[in-house]
Amino acid sequence: MSTPLNLKIIIGSTRPTRAADLVAPWVEAAARSHGDFAVDVLDLRDWPLPMFAEHAGTIGDINDPTYSDPLIKRWNDIIKGGDAFVMITPEYNHSIPAVLKNAVDSVWLSFGFRNKPVAAVGYSAGAGGAIRAIEHLAHIVVEAEAVPLRNAVLVPNVTAAFDETGAPTDPVSAAALGIALDDLAWWGRALKSARQQGEHLPGIWRMRAAMETAAAPANQ
Ligand SMILES: Cc1cc2nc3c(=O)[nH]c(=O)nc-3n(C[C@H](O)[C@H](O)[C@H](O)COP(=O)(O)O)c2cc1C
Repeated sequence: MSTPLNLKIIIGSTRPTRAADLVAPWVEAAARSHGDFAVDVLDLRDWPLPMFAEHAGTIGDINDPTYSDPLIKRWNDIIKGGDAFVMITPEYNHSIPAVLKNAVDSVWLSFGFRNKPVAAVGYSAGAGGAIRAIEHLAHIVVEAEAVPLRNAVLVPNVTAAFDETGAPTDPVSAAALGIALDDLAWWGRALKSARQQGEHLPGIWRMRAAMETAAAPANQ
């Protein structure tokens, strides 16, 4: 068997009494039994990241940034070690929770999400299944140069969505999670292989270089 992909499952709600605790164990168990992944759960409760406060003065060495807080550095390092990501998100005001957005924003200048796949598992108290949050999440992770996957998992009516064993009561949920994990493994391997063959520099660096060239006086 080939080396397992390093899969990070990020739990995107930290709220006391959160419904995430119904969803996350199911996702983690499915990922562990899938066979393609070495699984690491990143519960944002265990990562009390300060609200984003980076600036040029907090970075230090751009190739090994210091950041404003040692926890931010550890968070960047841990994300950099991932090959693929599952983000478990509820819907808060038609988007993802601020803690999850901050966790993505905090991966700054390490490019830890770059050229890696992200699958979304969304859930909500109502009928929407966090579909709007998942759409937002796809837009957000694109800017982190990650690859959001088409096949997401929606869990509506989350408080009634699992039986006493923790299994989903709707077979669609189990099927959707299986499909998302299969896609994550395929994309994870494809992108890992591509990264190993070499990557372009991040777009922001290439754009800066192009603008510096454009601004330089023409050779006489
Ligand atoms: C601040 C806030 C905003 C919410 N906004 C939405 C929403 O826009 N759409 C929706 O379907 N549910 C919304 N809900 C209900 C959540 O789907 C539900 O509370 C869910 O359990 C939240 O996940 P959590 O318990 O793991 O934090 C909202 C809940 C909170 C706390």
